[in-house]
Amino acid sequence: MSSERPISAKGRADEKAFEATLRPRRLADYIGQDRVKDNLQILIDAAKARKEPLDHVLFYGPPGLGKTTISNVMAAEMGVNIRVTSGPAIERAGDLVAILTNLKKEDILFVDEIHRLNRTIEEVLYPAMEDFAVDLVTGKGPSAQSIHLRLPKFTIIGATTRLALLTAPLRDRFGAVFRLEFYDQKAMEEIVRRSAGILKIETDEEGAAEIARRSRGTPRVANRLLKRVRDYAQVRADGKITQAVATEALQRLDVDELGLDDGDRRVLTAIIDKFDGGPVGVETIAASTSEEVDAVMDVYEPYLLQLGFIARTPRGRVVTGRAYEHLGKKPTARARERLGLLSAAAEQQAAQQPSLWNTPEDETAKE
Ligand SMILES: Nc1ncnc2c1ncn2[C@@H]1O[C@H](COP(=O)(O)OP(=O)(O)OP(=O)(O)O)[C@@H](O)[C@H]1O
Ligand SMILES: [Mg+2]
Repeated sequence: MSSERPISAKGRADEKAFEATLRPRRLADYIGQDRVKDNLQILIDAAKARKEPLDHVLFYGPPGLGKTTISNVMAAEMGVNIRVTSGPAIERAGDLVAILTNLKKEDILFVDEIHRLNRTIEEVLYPAMEDFAVDLVTGKGPSAQSIHLRLPKFTIIGATTRLALLTAPLRDRFGAVFRLEFYDQKAMEEIVRRSAGILKIETDEEGAAEIARRSRGTPRVANRLLKRVRDYAQVRADGKITQAVATEALQRLDVDELGLDDGDRRVLTAIIDKFDGGPVGVETIAASTSEEVDAVMDVYEPYLLQLGFIARTPRGRVVTGRAYEHLGKKPTARARERLGLLSAAAEQQAAQQPSLWNTPEDETAKE
C-alpha cells in the first residue's frame, strides 16, 4: 500500500523512465550533499592522478536520496563503464563469479541493495575486493579442483538503505563509506527548479519552494510531487505552478506542510493511542498499522526521526512532544513523564551525535 503513496520514497517500476530523464549525469549537476561530493572529488582526482581504478565505495541512506544517481555520476566522472546488479538478483555464487570475470580493468560494478547479498555469495566478494581474485572449485568429490583466477582491477560501488544489516567483513572492505543525508530546503528548491526546467513546467519561486518544503528532503519525492502538481495546475489553473496552486494540489494529495501524509499520521497515532506514546518495537508498529516492517524502517521512520517526531530507545520507538503537538494530541500523564525523561536523554545524545537517524550503532538489526 505504501508504494501508492505520493510521498513514499521507495522507487516504483513505472517511474524508471521518468527518473532517468531527471537524473543528473555529472557531479556538477548533482545538487546538495556537498560534503560527500567534496570527498568524492578527492577520491576521483587521486585515482586519476595515480591512473588506478577508484577505491571501493559504499553509499547508504534512506531511499530516493540519490545513491544510484551518484554511483552513475562517478562512472561518468571517471570515464569508465558501469555494470549494474543487486543483492537479490545474485542468487548463486556462480552468478557473481560470472559477473566478476567479465569485468574489464577499471570497470565499476554497482551492487544495489548490497545488504541483501546472501552470506555464501558475499564470501566470493572478499578476495575479489581485496586481492582482485576469485577461487573457483570445479568438479565434485576426489576430482574437485580449486582454481585461483585473477581479476582485472575494478571498483565495487555498493548501495544500501540499511547499513546495520551489512556484515562487518563486507563493510570493512570498502575504502570509503558515505552516508547520504536528507536534503535541506535550499537544495530541494534547486532540485525542483531543475526538474521543472527539464520537464518544461512553468513554476515560480514560491511554487517551487512549496513543493520542496513538502518533499521530505527527498529528491525522488520532489520529482513525483512536481508531476502531480503540474497535472493539477493544468486542469485547475492555467498550467503555472504558484504557491497557491502547489498548496492546494498537495493538500488534495493529503501531503501536509511538513511532507507527512496519512500513512505517517497513522504510524504516529498508533504509537500514541495504542501504546501511550511508546516505547514500542518496529514490528508491533507495522502490525498495528498493516504496514510492512521494511516500509516502516525505510520510509516512515528515517523522516520521522529527522523531524524529531520519534526517537529510538533501547526498548523501542517513542513519540516525542513535537509529534503530539503537530497532531494536536495531548500526552497522558504517564506519557508526559516519559517525554520529560526522554528529552533529557535525547539532549545528551544529540550533543554527542549531531544526526539522530540511521547510525549503525542505534539501528537494531533484529527486533
Ligand atoms: N542530488 C540530486 N540532484 C538532483 N536530482 C537528484 C539528486 N539525487 C537524486 N535525484 C533524483 O532523485 C531520483 C531518485 O534518486 P536515486 O534513484 O539515485 O535514489 P536512490 O538513493 O538510489 O534510491 P533507492 O534507495 O530507492 O535505490 C533520481 O531519478 C534523480 O532524478
Ligand atoms: Mg537506487
